[in-house]
Order: sequence, then C-alpha cells, then structure tokens
Amino acid sequence: LGLVKYFRYIIVGGGVAAGYAAREFDRQGLKPGELAIISKEAVAPYERPALSKGYLNPTGAARLPEFHVCVGSGGERLLPGWYKEKGIQLILSTEIVKVNLGSKTLISAAGETFKYQTLIIATGSTVIRLTDFKVEGADAKNIFYLRELEDADELAESMKTKKTGKAVIVGGGYIGLEVGAAMRINNFDVSMIYPEPWCMPRLFTPAIAAFYERYYANKGIKIIKGTVAVGFNANRNGEVTGVKLNDGRVLEADIVVVGVGARPLTTLFKGQVEEEKGGIKTDKFFKTSMPGVYAVGDVAAFPIKLYNEVRRVEHVDHARKSAEQAVKAIKASETGKEIEEYDYLPYFYSRSFNLSWQFYGDNVGDTVFFGDNNPSSPKPKFGSFWIKDGKVVGAFLEGGTPEENKAMAKIARLQPRVENLDQLKKEGLAFASKI
Ligand code: FDA
Ligand code: NAD
Repeated sequence: LGLVKYFRYIIVGGGVAAGYAAREFDRQGLKPGELAIISKEAVAPYERPALSKGYLNPTGAARLPEFHVCVGSGGERLLPGWYKEKGIQLILSTEIVKVNLGSKTLISAAGETFKYQTLIIATGSTVIRLTDFKVEGADAKNIFYLRELEDADELAESMKTKKTGKAVIVGGGYIGLEVGAAMRINNFDVSMIYPEPWCMPRLFTPAIAAFYERYYANKGIKIIKGTVAVGFNANRNGEVTGVKLNDGRVLEADIVVVGVGARPLTTLFKGQVEEEKGGIKTDKFFKTSMPGVYAVGDVAAFPIKLYNEVRRVEHVDHARKSAEQAVKAIKASETGKEIEEYDYLPYFYSRSFNLSWQFYGDNVGDTVFFGDNNPSSPKPKFGSFWIKDGKVVGAFLEGGTPEENKAMAKIARLQPRVENLDQLKKEGLAFASKI
C-alpha cells in the first residue's frame, strides 16, 4: 500500500484559477502544510493568455518566470519560492487520473493517493483536436495546438526551424486570430481558414469582424472563409506539407496551428457531481452539489446574477475572480460567516498586432455600431452596443483608453435605457462616457 498524503485543502489543476486561489488562501490566513496544488504541468501557475501573445514575439519574447500569476491582474508575481515560503505544496508533473469524491480521495497516474477535507476543482479546459473528428492525416508532425506551456514551447521551436515558411491557421476564434497575427509578425506567410462567414462569430457582429478581416488582409494574411480542413498531406518524414480544403483546394503548409475550440475537463468527476451546460454546476459561492467540493474557472457552470442564468465562461478574468470567491466562501463557511454572492459582469478581451479590444456584458439583442473602423486609420477606434428590451446590455470597444474601457464596463453593468437607436449610433462612445 502506497503512502496517503493528506491536505486540508487540495486544488486539482495548477492553472490561472489555482494561482489566484492560492493567493486568496494566503490573504485569508493559511497554515504551512494545509494547501496543496496538484498539476499535470511542470511549472507553477502562470498567466495562460501570454502563450498566444508575448510568448510568440520575434524579439524579447515573454518567458517564465516573468508571467507567473498574479501579474495579469497587477498583483505580486507568485514565483515557486512564494509557495515554498507560505508552506503551500506545489505537486507538479502529476496528473490525477481517478477521483472518488465520496471517500475524498484522488489518485495520480503514478499511483499516489491524496486525501483532503476540501477540494477545489480547477482543471480548466483541453483543446478540441482534429483527430477527434478523424480528419485524415491530422496526426502529422508540425500540426500544433496551444493550451499549455509545453505546447507553446513546441510551436516556438518549430517557428525557429521553419522561419518565414508557410503557416496555415485552422479556426477563426481567439487562438486563430491571436496566433495568426503572431505568426505574421514572425514573417510567416499566413493563411487562415474557418467554416463561418466571419471570424469570431461567438462574439463579433459582421461589422466588427469585417474590420479585423480587412486589417489582417492589409497585413498580408490570406483569409479563406466558409471552409474546413478535410485532410492533411505529409512528406516521408511525416511532416505536414499541405492542408486539404473541402472545396478541393490544397494549401501548402510548413506549420499548421489549430484553434477549433476547447472542452472543459470534467471527465474525472462524471456521475459524482451535478453538471450543467457542459460544466460542473455550482452555486454563487462555487460550491458543487457535493459537500466540501468547489469548482472554479473554465469548468464551473455558475449563476450569473445579472442575467439570472447559469453559464460557463472560458476567460481569465472569471478564472481569477471565481477562484477568489470560492476561497472566501470556504474560509467563511469554516467560521460561520457570510460573504456576498458572486455578481459577475462578463469581461473578454484580446490583443493582436497593435490592436486591442474589450467586451463587457452580454452579446444579445440588436446591435448598434459606431466609430472609425477604417483599418488604414492610424488609430482606429470603434465599437458596438447590444440592446435588449430597450436597454444596453453589452459593449465592445476597439482601441479604447483605460477610462473609455471603464465607461464601457459601467454601461454593461448599469444597463441604461435607450429610446432612440439612431441617436445612440450618433453619440457612440460619448453615450457611454456620460453614464
Ligand atoms: P487552466 O487551463 O488555466 O488550468 C488548468 C490546469 O489544470 C492546467 O495546468 C492543467 O494541466 C491542469 N490539469 C487538468 N487536468 C488535470 C489533472 N487531471 N490532474 C492534474 N492537473 C490537471 N482568456 C482571456 O480572458 N484573455 C486572453 O487573452 C486569453 N488568452 C488565452 C490564450 C491561450 C493560448 C489559452 C489556451 C487561453 C487563453 N485564455 C484567455 C483563456 C484563459 O487562459 C482560461 O480561461 C483560463 O486559463 C482558465 O483558468 P483555469 O484555471 O480554469 O484553467
Ligand atoms: P474558439 O471557440 O474561440 O474558436 C473556435 C473556432 O474554431 C470557431 O470560431 C471556428 O471558426 C473554428 N472551427 C470550429 N470547428 C472547425 C473546424 N472543424 N475546422 C476549422 N475551424 C473550425 O476557440 P479557440 O480559439 O480554439 O480557443 C480555445 C480556448 O482558449 C477558448 O476557451 C478561448 O476562450 C481561449 N482563448 C481565449 C483567448 C482570449 O480570451 N483572448 C485567447 C486565446 C484562447
């Protein structure tokens, strides 16, 4: 029988949420030896968004330790030494492969057993692979996905060897747009393919997407919309050489980067906790249906008070805030105190080239587009409001200053009434700034 390791608190998963949870535990008061973070990755929690941005810069690329959590929210950087100093055990390169929530037991791939009093599930998401759909040749070399540091290292290494070659980006979502830009900045000949009629359809309106598509085209990126990769050609070494499209065309490729979505890692807990919307169902304190078990970040399906609806959010701001809320709730429950309910305002952002956008709220209802969306402008600034039941519920802004972005957040939170959409279009950003 192997040794059983016991911790009062265990966080399974060592990503963004785990790092912010650790900081909150420390703030709330933690004794050495009480907390362990068990992570499949070999490094301490870091700010994952860096991987598709600064990590791929041609010069001065971001490398650990500079982007460990919690720099992303402007806090102190939690280096491995920080965890040591606080007596928090980082159990790295350790994958949990079996979970029994009834007996409060976790088992690792190496056969170690861990027990806890309180568990935080922070396993995040994994990439959807083209091999999942049995796309022919999708296991060729130099076809990359991007989720963890290891993936980013492999991509960066390949970019060094294949420099200025042909890159094909499969997918027109977050990864596609950010990595496509990064590859272009590294002088690759970049083509992007995606099935939808415009990029980032889960958030962008056609008017918003049109700007980014023209901007990318001006940078020399070829965009082929309404198409999917049905297969890949490879050379004798098994390295990808071409991407076959469903219309019969073949795009030459030295590197392929695939970003066709992510899937929350809930498999370990199937049948042991309630699920909803593909995630682990929680209350406003990130408590699951199982006593003593919390779920945060990408895996949590939680109530959004503002919309009176349960949702899952795959973004870093929520990973940070849900982790802090869960830890506050855990500590409060131990002392019989009460804390405020989670009242989250969805916030998404992206950066590529010299562009930077932010979105707050809900992208439902009618849309009103405003501002300068000429991709050749020295500093394009435009946005969109979403209006539902006569109220502004969502706000998007490209190129905003910190104050302007704050105004957009405020408007999405306060949901002011609008009587006249033409008037709103005319006022644009000024409408948000006066609220
Ligand atoms: P996260 O994925 O960060 O961490 C999960 C951890 O659990 C990983 O370390 C994983 O290895 C580990 N794990 C999983 N299963 C395990 C097991 N069985 N045993 C042990 N460990 C296990 N968002 C945003 O708002 N703005 C942005 O710009 C970006 N940019 C961005 C770029 C890239 C490349 C990616 C992949 C993602 C983003 N995101 C983003 C999304 C954001 O990073 C994401 O929502 C958060 O990282 C979610 O945090 P979690 O802690 O929930 O999961
Ligand atoms: P995504 O959901 O943003 O985009 C997926 C895209 O894949 C779709 O828009 C579609 O164009 C495309 N697609 C779907 N099926 C396809 C197919 N068979 N062939 C070709 N294209 C297909 O997902 P992603 O870009 O892969 O991002 C993965 C995860 O990482 C998400 O959770 C995302 O939120 C996160 N992420 C976020 C950011 C950010 O917030 N700035 C940046 C990078 C990654």
